[in-house]
Amino acid sequence: MSRVLEVTGLEGGYGAVQILYGIDLHVEEGEFVTIIGPNGCGKSTFIKTVFGIAKHYGGQVLYRGEPIEGLRSDQLVAKGIAYVPQVNNVFPSLSVEENLQMGGNSLSGNVLSRRIERALDMFPDLRSREHDLAASLSGGERQMLAISRALISDPNFLLLDEPTAALSPLYQQQIIERIDALREQGITVLIVEQNARLSLARSDRGYIMANGKVVLTGTAEHILNDPDIGQYFLGTHDD
Ligand SMILES: Nc1ncnc2c1ncn2[C@@H]1O[C@H](COP(=O)(O)OP(=O)(O)OP(=O)(O)O)[C@@H](O)[C@H]1O
Ligand SMILES: [Mg+2]
Repeated sequence: MSRVLEVTGLEGGYGAVQILYGIDLHVEEGEFVTIIGPNGCGKSTFIKTVFGIAKHYGGQVLYRGEPIEGLRSDQLVAKGIAYVPQVNNVFPSLSVEENLQMGGNSLSGNVLSRRIERALDMFPDLRSREHDLAASLSGGERQMLAISRALISDPNFLLLDEPTAALSPLYQQQIIERIDALREQGITVLIVEQNARLSLARSDRGYIMANGKVVLTGTAEHILNDPDIGQYFLGTHDD
């Protein structure tokens, strides 16, 4: 197995505010890895630091063995990494089609059309909405658009920040299934999920964060089945 992402001792934050204190995390080629943890523990900050949006203070971030700290997001996209933010992940005042076009504005017309077609094949619900404004989409459709937009750059490593937040159980299930289907097409997935059980059920491994640190890591199966972990981190029942 080759290592897509290897993070060692990552310290990150915003301006003078340090949020992450020495995160160690890795993702192997083809894996589906879930990060969970309480609100405010630094999950989004972790993804943003890896993607070059939050401030990197220290530690190493290797992508396929190459250091990527300090690279801009567009440089990371060119290397095959895509990121779907937790909030503001589509342009509401643009149509679905325009949002998808924005995902690949450096591509030639032909390539862009093919990529848009492929993204719409993954999320066929969006086909009938192509000319509607993103603002008119339901929450679930909006997340599908955000993920589709990330696919336009033809990534092989996808960072997703809470793609099922605030969605109905049916949409949550659908979104996680589609993400798993992307993994089956060869895309390596690192996802932050509030809906821990749903995401872990599709995952190879998981990381539990608290207060800017990784407090526990293991196979998804172990995290899901260990009663102590379940009680403290997953809630007491499936929801
Ligand atoms: N732009 C910012 N500037 C300063 N502090 C920030 C900024 N964004 C987030 N923070 C702070 O960083 C800490 C971690 O936030 P982060 O968004 O990473 O948490 P999270 O684990 O993703 O939480 P949630 O589950 O609610 O999405 C919080 O205390 C938050 O207030
Ligand atoms: Mg977050």
